Amino acid sequence: MRKIIIAIDGYSACGKSSTAKRVAAALNYGYVDTGAMYRAVTLYFMEHYIDLTNPKSVSKALGEISITFHHNDSTGQNETYLNGLNVEERIREMEISQRVSEVAAIKAVREAMVKQQQKMGKSKGVVMDGRDIGSVVFPNAELKIFMNADFDVRAERRQKELFDKDNLVDLDEVKENLRKRDKIDTTRAESPLIRPVDSVEVDTTHMFLEEQVDHIVQLATGEKVNK
Ligand code: DC
Repeated sequence: MRKIIIAIDGYSACGKSSTAKRVAAALNYGYVDTGAMYRAVTLYFMEHYIDLTNPKSVSKALGEISITFHHNDSTGQNETYLNGLNVEERIREMEISQRVSEVAAIKAVREAMVKQQQKMGKSKGVVMDGRDIGSVVFPNAELKIFMNADFDVRAERRQKELFDKDNLVDLDEVKENLRKRDKIDTTRAESPLIRPVDSVEVDTTHMFLEEQVDHIVQLATGEKVNK
């Protein structure tokens, strides 16, 4: 079957990554979590005290960063590596969530990440999730999904996800973080989160993960939807 690019964009915590991962597995495609790339850059900037307002420091630091994904056979997941070090757990912490939108709004950061993402999807057969995949990274993607969910449901899901990783975070703190990130992600000057006109909207508020995955796989394979 012809391999395509599946772009999945949407707000934070509406189930993009979990869905995208499973869609990729079902189709035997690669999976790229672009949010993880912005998180890894944020971690590097924090660890090296990079002044985000200084373009020279930012561009120098970007030249020192290498982000790769490696499959972990015991968890069955792709994990994020920053300069050869596994940072998968570290980049999911609240500290990073609190800074990442600010870093992802920097033009030079976006240009560097988009370039790498375009390389990663060059051979097609890839599911990529993020905020600008269908609008900027792959405007010609064969299938574009825009995912959304009710704000409270998103917050509860994110809190549970953190809890499952032994990260106990107050629901109000999670909500505050999501609110702030939504605002920055949708209003920034550089490729803000938008719903591409040619995307299919999937509202996951009342959907189970399996339904989301089936729906997208059917769209991708051209099978009848709305079964
Ligand atoms: O999907 P996530 O929550 O892990 O993403 C972390 C942040 O990175 C999010 O607040 C916005 C940013 N991001 C982005 O600007 N563009 C992308 N393609 C992916 C993520």
